[in-house]
Amino acid sequence: MNVLGIESSCDETGVALVSFDAMQAPRLRAQALHSQIDMHRGFGGVVPELASRDHIRRLLPLTQEVLSAASCELGQVDVVSFTRGPGLAGALLVGAGMACALAAALGRPALGIHHLEGHLLSPFLADDPPQFPFVALLVSGGHTQLMRVSDVGRYELLGETVDDAAGEAFDKCAKTLGIGYPGGPALARLAARGDAKAFQLPRPLMHSPTLDFSFAGLKTAVWSLHRKLGPLPGDPVLADLAAATQAAIVDVLVSKSERALQEVGLNRLVVAGGVGANSLLRERLNTMGARRRVRVHYPDLDLCTDNGAMIALAGAMRVQRGFAPQNPHYAFDVLPRWSLADIDLS
Ligand code: KG4
Ligand code: ZN
Repeated sequence: MNVLGIESSCDETGVALVSFDAMQAPRLRAQALHSQIDMHRGFGGVVPELASRDHIRRLLPLTQEVLSAASCELGQVDVVSFTRGPGLAGALLVGAGMACALAAALGRPALGIHHLEGHLLSPFLADDPPQFPFVALLVSGGHTQLMRVSDVGRYELLGETVDDAAGEAFDKCAKTLGIGYPGGPALARLAARGDAKAFQLPRPLMHSPTLDFSFAGLKTAVWSLHRKLGPLPGDPVLADLAAATQAAIVDVLVSKSERALQEVGLNRLVVAGGVGANSLLRERLNTMGARRRVRVHYPDLDLCTDNGAMIALAGAMRVQRGFAPQNPHYAFDVLPRWSLADIDLS
């Protein structure tokens, strides 16, 4: 079976082809990605209308590129999966529209995938995939969640952020420090030159009994400190502030993940989403894992941030389990706000 995956929920256009058969788990045949970062940089963030228009421009050439890299004819595509939500409505509509038109033309099923399901299944494309059940730490630009995952489509929310997501905290603090967009990787690079102990920043909810997160207070603390210190661009204090910010976010994520593993009694942790690319987070989770005899799984680095491979993979894993979409007329919708807990299994 060949599953074509299309991701267009935000500022990356991703297309990929994943194949599987009765003997072999889904494997990535080819993928192509176009990042819109350069286009949005001048605005300091994603401009939804520009994002949608760019997805329109990129999707067909990227699809042709993927099919040709995989030496796969269009007619050999068995299922087209696409991101149905959550994300920017206009951007999602472009991917959903193209996926359903392609599926209709081919007479093949179109499968709407939850973007976060794609993220949390993405480590299954790694050389050393996890086994169910596991605890998942989903850390992206819009979401910070801990889930108990018993199988594809079986997700139990253990805790989530009550305000900003971890990626959002990285992005907003980076903006405060004047180090541009996207903030996460830029802040991590600057932090590498700083002293995390130079400032003691708050770690909101770290010791609360729930598995919920909160990052808004940290963002405000960084803003106030920056305002008080008034550093000029290039001042070494900026690197110290970045390092202290990163340490605070990572401390909370590691501590809550450890508590979640303890509470549900599992010894496998899967980390997914853009912030999962952060090397301090990986280092600290690995240390915690070694101490608690927990296996920590990550997607390959290029599959941490948004991509088409995770959407093709989630489609393939659903098809493998017999979740067949019943949609003979190819009517489609998108769900800009959609909780993973509300996902349907049909
Ligand atoms: O999963 P993703 O690509 O998109 C969403 O679904 O949101 O995550 C993007 C988020 C952004 O907030 C970005 O700043 C953050 O992931 N990010 C990082 C790193 N790479 C990406 N945050 C910290 N360190 C990184 N190396
Ligand atoms: Zn994402």
